[in-house]
Amino acid sequence: MQSVRKELSLRAADLLEDIDQLSGTNVVILGDVMLDEYIFGSVERISPEAPVPIVRIESEEYRLGGAGNVAKNITGLGGTAKLFGTLGHDGSAVRMREMFQLHGIEDNCFQESERLTTCKTRIIAQHQQIVRIDREPECRPSSAALEFLLREVAEAMKTSNVLIVSDYGKGIVSTPVMHRLRAICEALPHSPRIIVDPKPKNYSAYSGVALLTPNTKEAGIEAIACREMSEKRSDVVHRDVLEAGQRLLRELHCKELLITLGAQGMMLFQSASQAVHIPTAARKVYDVTGAGDTVIAVMGLAMASGLPTLQGCLLANYAAGIVVGQIGATAVTPDQLREVVLSWPIPQVCQHSYKCHCSS
Ligand SMILES: Nc1ncnc2c1ncn2[C@@H]1O[C@H](COP(=O)(O)OP(=O)(O)OP(=O)(O)O)[C@@H](O)[C@H]1O
Ligand SMILES: [Mg+2]
Repeated sequence: MQSVRKELSLRAADLLEDIDQLSGTNVVILGDVMLDEYIFGSVERISPEAPVPIVRIESEEYRLGGAGNVAKNITGLGGTAKLFGTLGHDGSAVRMREMFQLHGIEDNCFQESERLTTCKTRIIAQHQQIVRIDREPECRPSSAALEFLLREVAEAMKTSNVLIVSDYGKGIVSTPVMHRLRAICEALPHSPRIIVDPKPKNYSAYSGVALLTPNTKEAGIEAIACREMSEKRSDVVHRDVLEAGQRLLRELHCKELLITLGAQGMMLFQSASQAVHIPTAARKVYDVTGAGDTVIAVMGLAMASGLPTLQGCLLANYAAGIVVGQIGATAVTPDQLREVVLSWPIPQVCQHSYKCHCSS
């Protein structure tokens, strides 16, 4: 693959104007909502019952995960988040509903007594995760639940330009559901766009959406390709990333594709012959969980406010850079975004134009 690179010049003043546009926009989120439970404690001895540590609990914490975390990122940045998903009739659902209220999220979740609320419990002692316990529904949402959600989403889309689908592979998303969502958006005169944080097992369902935001693993990029990218100069982009992006853009029939590359930032594919690499803006990294939720939340807000995709990516990259530098998932605020745009060095964004000879 022959590629020609060109550095794009960015101005902090333009980015600040873009941040102002994010607040006040209205985004609809449909997806797998889940609860993250953290139990912190200490280990003093091994159990006499089995060769396992005994953890004495010191504190517990609950956080919104999955589509709930996307919604939290949206309200944190001053947007309106209308959230659609399913919950069980259990303690996790009660906790989640309290947190939706706390974060100003419009909660439109459907409760089903036959299904558990998805909850991931991490037990952490001496700064180490000892075990993770998952509670998950065993079946897909009922057709009554899906019909309710699709009807309500159709209503909500009348006043929104963007639908975020946050697919964590827990059952909300399927080919028929994506088909219905596309039909809902296509029937509206303002043609709202659908953007998806995908799971590879559902790739065939996303055909025709406006934007997909897979991470490297979901994009099928070998970890080695990213490591090689970081070993070279940060502006040198590995051929494997470009090839994987072109292949996905072609095969998934999405209009645009944003591959998040962890420590290497992100790469935006908008056409068959061009990609833009945005290196990470992060200054320090403590906890990378939830960075992907922040990326799709900012992309949703940016698109809903009419910003071009690249401008959305630049802001999403800054916001993810803030999130990975914080311990625990705290939502980014517009003031924090403004502060980092002014205080961090502006990333060297590179446009790559190339001819791809790779076979499909
Ligand atoms: N180790 C890191 N160093 C610097 N920036 C990072 C790092 N990890 C993530 N980021 C930032 O966060 C963005 C999204 O990260 P990543 O590619 O890990 O998404 P993800 O795997 O979907 O995240 P998750 O599923 O944990 O929410 C990246 O594009 C980058 O801007
Ligand atoms: Mg992700």
